[in-house]
Amino acid sequence: MIQEIARAKLNLALHVRHRRSDGYHALETLFAFVRDGDLLTLSDAETDRFAITGPFAATLQAESDNLVTRARDRFRLTFGDDRPCAILLDKRLPVASGIGGGSADAAAALRALATRAGVRHDDPDLLACANVLGSDVPACLLSRTAIGRGRGEDLVPVDGLGGVPALLVNPGVGVSTAAVFERWDGVDRGSIGSGDLLEVARSGRNDLEPPARSLAPAIDGVLAVLARQPRTHMVRMSGSGATCFALFEDAPACAAAAEAIRSAEPGWWCLETALI
Ligand code: C5P
Repeated sequence: MIQEIARAKLNLALHVRHRRSDGYHALETLFAFVRDGDLLTLSDAETDRFAITGPFAATLQAESDNLVTRARDRFRLTFGDDRPCAILLDKRLPVASGIGGGSADAAAALRALATRAGVRHDDPDLLACANVLGSDVPACLLSRTAIGRGRGEDLVPVDGLGGVPALLVNPGVGVSTAAVFERWDGVDRGSIGSGDLLEVARSGRNDLEPPARSLAPAIDGVLAVLARQPRTHMVRMSGSGATCFALFEDAPACAAAAEAIRSAEPGWWCLETALI
């Protein structure tokens, strides 16, 4: 049995530079990952099986085409490993919420299958599988802080944010990534900075915030509540939303904010965690 955590991804900054001729958008983004995520378990089996459990299982089960089974099929095609397997996904993170979700699950499946087959996690063919599955899957395969360019797949790992307390908050609305990108206003507001990573993050933006907020006004409320919390380094939306996050100066401040938000907004999903 092999287990992999599909860690939640944050875009500490996400600068959209231009619309490409292939329909994707050229990005500059600072990816970071947190301790917590979905849990994927891979076991040998007589026939292929895929099951989803956990608090967000129901939303995903409705989808016929899951990124995890696509990752499994893509791995087989690439590496010729036809042994059947059982994959169990404990879905702990909200779906369609800007924190990786399906991309992280697909990447976790690739890592687990690679481990079983004796393939290195940095094998270029594994990275190629990730690339085909989605723009965020290569970053999730790496699951460490990195600057992403291109569609997000052109990655340069960076160090320096491990242990920073983070609070992730989702108001319970899903947003379509494609719809948010479609509403981007086309204005290039410039590249992300360089140097101290926290400063790069703080001085950056998420250019998808305005279009996401117009599609899901509940995001306004989440950002406002996070902005009122004491001792934050920064508050921002992640990816195409609707999950927003705050980074804190210390863990007690993060815990206090989590408690305040949970009691004020019991319907919101709230994860108290830390960057890795
Ligand atoms: O790559 P992925 O399938 O995850 O992307 C989902 C959608 O998000 C794409 O179909 C595209 O509309 C949009 N997207 C984009 N530019 C990116 C990444 C995603 O326009 N860099």
